[in-house]
Formats: sequence, structure tokens, C-alpha cells
Amino acid sequence: MNCAEQLVDLFGSQADVARAFRLDRAVVHNWVKTGYVPARWAGEVERITQGRISALEVINEASAKNPVRVKSRPEHHPFGLSESDPMSQYAPTKRIQSFHPPQRTLMGPGPTEIHPRVLTTMSQPAIGYLDPVFVEMMEELKSLLRYVYQTKNALTFPLSGPGSVGMEYCFVNMVSPGDKVIVCQNGVFGGRMLENAVRCGGVPVVVEDKWGEPVDPQKLEDALKKNRDAKVVGFVHAETSTGSSSDAKLLTQIAHKHGALVIVDAVTSLGGSPVKVDEWEIDAIYSASQKCLSCTPGLSPVSFSQRVVDHVKLRKDKIHSWFMDMNLLLGYWNATTRTYHHTAPTNSLFALHEALLLIREEGLENSWARHHRHHVALKAGLEAMGLRFLVKPEHQLPQMNAVLCPEGVNEEEVRRTLLNEFGLEIGAGLGPLKGKVWRFGLMGYSCRPDNVMLCLSALGSVLSDMGLAVHVGDAEAAAHGAYAQMHVKDAQRKKRAA
Ligand SMILES: Cc1ncc(COP(=O)(O)O)c(C=O)c1O
Repeated sequence: MNCAEQLVDLFGSQADVARAFRLDRAVVHNWVKTGYVPARWAGEVERITQGRISALEVINEASAKNPVRVKSRPEHHPFGLSESDPMSQYAPTKRIQSFHPPQRTLMGPGPTEIHPRVLTTMSQPAIGYLDPVFVEMMEELKSLLRYVYQTKNALTFPLSGPGSVGMEYCFVNMVSPGDKVIVCQNGVFGGRMLENAVRCGGVPVVVEDKWGEPVDPQKLEDALKKNRDAKVVGFVHAETSTGSSSDAKLLTQIAHKHGALVIVDAVTSLGGSPVKVDEWEIDAIYSASQKCLSCTPGLSPVSFSQRVVDHVKLRKDKIHSWFMDMNLLLGYWNATTRTYHHTAPTNSLFALHEALLLIREEGLENSWARHHRHHVALKAGLEAMGLRFLVKPEHQLPQMNAVLCPEGVNEEEVRRTLLNEFGLEIGAGLGPLKGKVWRFGLMGYSCRPDNVMLCLSALGSVLSDMGLAVHVGDAEAAAHGAYAQMHVKDAQRKKRAA
């Protein structure tokens, strides 16, 4: 038994250990989860257990489980490498060993925790990307992506690269130099779209909204009326930097009314809230593997309507990027006889196949409902602590919860303590929101009730340690109350349906 388990054994339960040490239950829960008691508690453990668990035992176990990492040592340090070591020229102050990441609870803006089934699949033996077995898996992967995107688009596949590659791919293929592009900007990622439009030689028109607010459909309509030659409209469905959701269906309708194609960023929405490519008649859409799909980062699922494929085929100029040229990539992803384009990241694609299969097994609508359910509980708990959301309720994203940091609190220290003491990662504010908000992600496999409760307990105890009038118990009770209400409603709904 490790020291954390011995403590629970001695005192009877995690709650009793917490009482004996005058700690929050979440701290003890974290000791048990990580399998050791941090070394700084060694003296207390020996005192409170009256020597039954010695300080030395705690220290030895903690330093084995969580060795102190010295980031850099001065040259010629006695623990540095000897000159005869072949690495001495390249990393003289450090002995490089296998990397073992710590166990973290990931509740930031992505990446998320990864389901064990996905991790296992990823570590299967490598095979060639033109192997018939791999090609068959790719066909399934495309079907699974069509399911999560709710589309019959033939050209639906994962690009090799993160979400930023998906974004760039859409602009590079759809915007020719001199094309007028309307970009809606209400956060960081609308800004990135604008940058792409400019770099492709497009003539940008910006529709700007306040950070934390959705894209205003009326402003888009006005911009399109003023710019009748606009060819493309780009907007972010789920703005990760603020936690605000925009009406993708309505914005697409408006763009189409004026003859423009849309590029939609669904990096944070896909899998976590409704994205209906065919019903909403979206032309081009991209996402990323590491958000609500809960896969390893580095893949960007995209989908294009036939309108876009025809538009790109009709382009007279040569597409600037060889790697991104849709016409060339069609021969790999969209053909029955595949030809070499680039070496596909095979094991990451195995992982995406498994991650999508998990969503298929859960049911897409159930996945959306799960994100909503845990958002409601987390929100109840955060608001019970007196925290306020940046975004109005009707535009809040369930998977990305941005709350205003309370006055007088060192927000960076809060995040650091959450990470160091609880292994819990939450997100900081970006751009003008830096230092002003915390972003709590509830995405994919990270979107679970145990994470909601850990987050509330950990944040509550850190804030109350810093002197804020926060009652952890109230926050936990509010979240439990929200869950209970939702259970009752679900039961009533099922009864009515039966
Ligand atoms: C809305 C949005 N778009 C684009 C990106 C870029 O994705 P990636 O970091 O995978 O390149 C992100 C990343 O967080 C995002 O949240």
C-alpha cells in the first residue's frame, strides 16, 4: 500500500483523512489518485499518524513518484555529463532519460484527456499508408467523420496537421488573389482567419464584434450589402478564446443569399455541440482532433461541399501551396486507387478512428447532451462561488466556460497552484482577456462528472486559501443540485415518452 492508501486505511475514508489534516477532500482524493503524498506533507503525516507512517517513507515515495526535475544545471556541475559522454556537446548539463508525462486532469481549451481505448489503439504496430488494411480503415474513418459532421459530402477527411492547417487549407484553396473575403472577428481565431485571408492575397472586409459576444448576423448582412463582390465569408462557430457560440446556420444563410461561400471554424464545436453541415448547407468546414473528439493533437478533419470542389477546380491560377493543393490531395483521400501524396501519420489516424468510434457508440446527440449536462453542473458550482461568466447564457458554449477572475486575485498563481497541487490544468485568457478570465474546458473525454467535482473542490480550496470568501461545500452542493434536477427532468421525459 502506498502512503496515501495507508492513510485512508488508518483513518477510515478519504473524508476522514481530510478532516485529520484539516484539508479539503479534493486534496486527499488527489493523493490517492496520483498514488503518493507530496513530500512537503511528510512531517505532518508522521505527526498526525503518531509515527505509524514515517516522514522518510513519505519523502522516499514522493521523490520516486515525482522526482524533482532540475531544468538546467550550470556547466561543470558535479552532476552534469562527463566530457566523454557523446551527448556532452549537445546537452552538457542534463542526462536525458525516457519521458514520462505526469498524470493531469485537462480542463483547459484543449488538448483534452484521451480515452484509454484511443491510447491503446495508437500504440498498435505501424503499417504502411498504402497497405490495403490501412486504406480500408481510412474509408471507415471518412464515414465516421461524415457522421460527426452530419454530412454526405464525399470530400470529408482528416488533414495531416493541427486545426491551423485545416484553416489554412480552406483559405489557400478557396481564396484567389484579389478575391474579396468577409471575415467575422469576435476573438482570437477570427483574427487568425483574417491573417489567412490577407496572406492568400484576398481583399479583407472585417465584421467586428466584442470579445465574448457572438457574431452579429445583421452586421454580416450589412457588410455583404456594401460588398456585393464578396466571394467568401469566414467565421468561427465556437470561439475558444471567449467561450461564445455563433449561429452558424443563420450566418451561412445570409452569406448564401448574397452569393458567397462560407468557411466555418468548428475546431471547438465538433462533437461537443450540434454541427450539421448538410442541414445548414455549410460549404467548407474544419476542426481539430484534440478538442471534443479527444484524440491526439495533429489532425484536422475537414469537409467540403461539391460547390467548393467545383470552385477550386475552376481556378485559373495555380494554388500557392503544393502540400495544400486540394486537387492534388484528392488523389490520395478521394480516390479508390490511391497514389502517394505525403506520408500519412498512420498511428494518429488509428487513434482518430477509435475516438470517432467512441462517439458513434455513445451516439452523437448523447455526446452533445453530455457536454450540456456537465456544463450546467460546472456553471452552478462556479456561480455558487460568486464567479461570473464572460458570455451571456444564451451564447455560452458548454465545452468552453470563460469566467471573470475575481478582483485582487493573482490569476496566474491560481492556475499554477491548481496544476502543482491538484494536477489540474485550466486555461488562461488570451489577447485582451489575458489576466482577466479563466477558461474551463469540458471537452470530449475530459467532460465527466468527476472532473467537474474535482475542479470545483480544487478551485474552491485554492481561492479560499487565498482569502476569498468562497465555500467549497456550497459550490459542490450547487453542482450536485444541478445534476439532481437534470436527472429528475430526464426521468420525467423518459416516462412521458414511454
Ligand atoms: C477556434 C479555433 N480555431 C483554430 C484553432 C487552431 O487549432 P490548432 O491549435 O489545432 O492548430 C484553435 C485552437 O485552439 C481554435 O480553438
